[in-house]
Amino acid sequence: MELSTRHLLGIKDLTKDDINLILSTAEQFKEVLQRPVKKVPSLRDVTIVNLFYENSTRTRMSFELAERRLSADVLNFAASSSSAAKGETLLDTVNNILSMKVDMVVMRHSASGAPHFLAKHIPAAIINAGDGINEHPTQALLDAFSMREKTGRLEGLKVAIIGDIMHSRVALSNIYLLTKMGAEIMVAGPPTLIPKYITDAFGIRVEYNIKKALEWCDVANVLRIQLERQNQPLFSSLREYNIAYGINRRLLESLKKEIVIMHPGPINRGVELDSDVADGPFSIILNQVENGVAVRMAALYLLANRQE
Ligand code: CP
Repeated sequence: MELSTRHLLGIKDLTKDDINLILSTAEQFKEVLQRPVKKVPSLRDVTIVNLFYENSTRTRMSFELAERRLSADVLNFAASSSSAAKGETLLDTVNNILSMKVDMVVMRHSASGAPHFLAKHIPAAIINAGDGINEHPTQALLDAFSMREKTGRLEGLKVAIIGDIMHSRVALSNIYLLTKMGAEIMVAGPPTLIPKYITDAFGIRVEYNIKKALEWCDVANVLRIQLERQNQPLFSSLREYNIAYGINRRLLESLKKEIVIMHPGPINRGVELDSDVADGPFSIILNQVENGVAVRMAALYLLANRQE
C-alpha cells in the first residue's frame, strides 16, 4: 500500500486508508525505537531540509530525530538566522536549497497556506509542520496514535478539544482526522474562542461549560491559549480564564470517571492546565511527544517511498 498523496499538506487531503497506513507504519517504527540500535537505513541517500519560519521545540526536534533514525541527510534552516531576514522570498530560499539536491522539505510557517503555495512551485515532497491557523497534520496523527494506544480505539471515542479553537491548527487537523476515523467530537471553551462556522462546517458539538465537556468525553485534548495570534483581547484575563476554563485536579476528581488528558504543547501552566493535571496520572502529554518521532518516521518513509 502507498499514500494517495505525494505531499502531506493537511489531514483534509488524506483518506481513511492513508491515516490507517501512517498509524500502522508508525507502530512498526515505535517498535524499532525500543531497540538498543534505533537507526534503520530506510532513507539512506535521501536529503531533507527542515525549514522553520516559526518557533518550535517539539516538532522541529522530533522531525530531525525521525530523519536521523531513518539515516537521511538532514539540513536545518531557521528563518531568523538566514537570508530570509534580509528579505529573500520563500520561493527563492527554497529553490536555492533545492539546487543543492534536496529531496524533501519539512516546513513550518506562520502564514496559512504557505506549504500549499510551495507545493505548486517546487518538485520536492513537502510535509507541513504547521501553517498559521490552518493545519498541523503530524500533530493530529501523533495525537490519534496516542489516543488509540491508550484507549484501544478511535471509532466511537468521545474526544473533547478544549480551549483556543479559533487560533489552533491542531484543532482543525484533529477535527478532520477524528471525523474521518469515526470518533465523536466536541469543542469546548469560551464563545469568543470558538469560531461560529465550526458547527455548520463539521456538525460537531459545542460546549461552553468545561465540567460538562469533561463529563461527556473519554479524552480531553487541551489547547494552548495563543496570545501571539490575538489582535484584541478575547477574554478578560489569564487568571479569569483559568478560573472558568482551566483544568485542575479538583475538577478531574469531581467527575464520575477517569478521562485521558492530552496537550500538544507548549503548555501555559496555570492557564489552560494546572501542573497537578499536566504532570498527573491521567496525562499522556509526554507519551504524545515520544510517539511523535515514530509517527514522523512513518510519514517521511511513506512519502519518500511513494512511486510516482
Ligand atoms: N506541538 C507543537 O507543535 O509544539 P512546537 O511548537 O514546540 O513544535
